Amino acid sequence: MAISLKGRSFLTLKDFSPEEIDYLLNLAAKLKADKKKGITGNSLKGKNIALIFEKPSTRTRCSFTIGCVDEGGHPEYLGRDDIQLGHKESVEDTARVLGRMFDGIEFRGFKQENVEKLAKYSGVPVWNGLTDEYHPTQILADFLTLREQFGELKGLNLVFVGDGRNNMANSLMIGSAKMGVNITILAPKQLWPSNELVELCSEYARESGSKITVSDDIMSVKGADALYTDVWCSMGEEDLAAERIALLRPYQVNKELMAKTENERTILLHCLPAVKGYEVTEEVFEANADVIFDEAENRMHTIKAVMVATLGNI
Ligand code: CP
Ligand code: NVA
Repeated sequence: MAISLKGRSFLTLKDFSPEEIDYLLNLAAKLKADKKKGITGNSLKGKNIALIFEKPSTRTRCSFTIGCVDEGGHPEYLGRDDIQLGHKESVEDTARVLGRMFDGIEFRGFKQENVEKLAKYSGVPVWNGLTDEYHPTQILADFLTLREQFGELKGLNLVFVGDGRNNMANSLMIGSAKMGVNITILAPKQLWPSNELVELCSEYARESGSKITVSDDIMSVKGADALYTDVWCSMGEEDLAAERIALLRPYQVNKELMAKTENERTILLHCLPAVKGYEVTEEVFEANADVIFDEAENRMHTIKAVMVATLGNI
């Protein structure tokens, strides 16, 4: 049966089958190719989309805005000081109001529970633009980029280096386990992902044939097709900077770590923003800038695909 994601929310990749993730990646690739030819669609014509941002954003905000406008929709930005969400008004009430006015809602914020409540009470598709726990739209852009670089995802060796319990590490582990990518989370023990999530991902991995490794040994980058890193302090954790720098300094992605892959063709991905001199050196970042900015561009095509698939007239 043909895949349809019409009416679905996009809260975590846990909710999507490998076939559905593949469908979104294929749709994104098509929308990207079309846009390069100057073709944009009309599938969100007449749709109003709320963009709630409790935390700042460059890529995610611009991707939702441009993706929506390219498809004929109207985006409305609601920043943390613009609405009452969670302060004077409950998340449930805000959701019910927005659901009466908007056709879809993007949420970037702190609690995963809040994006789930928005979906439950608004009655319209809700898309997770990053929470403390997950960043699922980022993974679609990462995987589209890996497909562009390597042709296919299955069997690739991906190593995430850094804060192994942050939203990126969690979501990469889920996505990789579902799509047959071998994933290593390389981090000091204090920053390992929860056992519960590793166990859940191990179940997905059994289905897809992927291998999950959690290690604090930097030699585990050996054989990597791609390294992936992210900031050492996620948004909202800035107070922990001194502690994180002390823990993560040995895990910086630099020339020496790249050499330990023993693979001259290893690429580096980064969700951005990058804090150069910490999680990655300027030198390694610049050597991989083309692919990292492809990845940033792919945020827009993949987010557009999520909106079109769940809300569009296709
Ligand atoms: N990668 C990413 O989500 O970037 P922004 O925080 O700029 O949206
Ligand atoms: N882990 C980072 C990701 C930014 C896109 C953060 O949450 O700040």
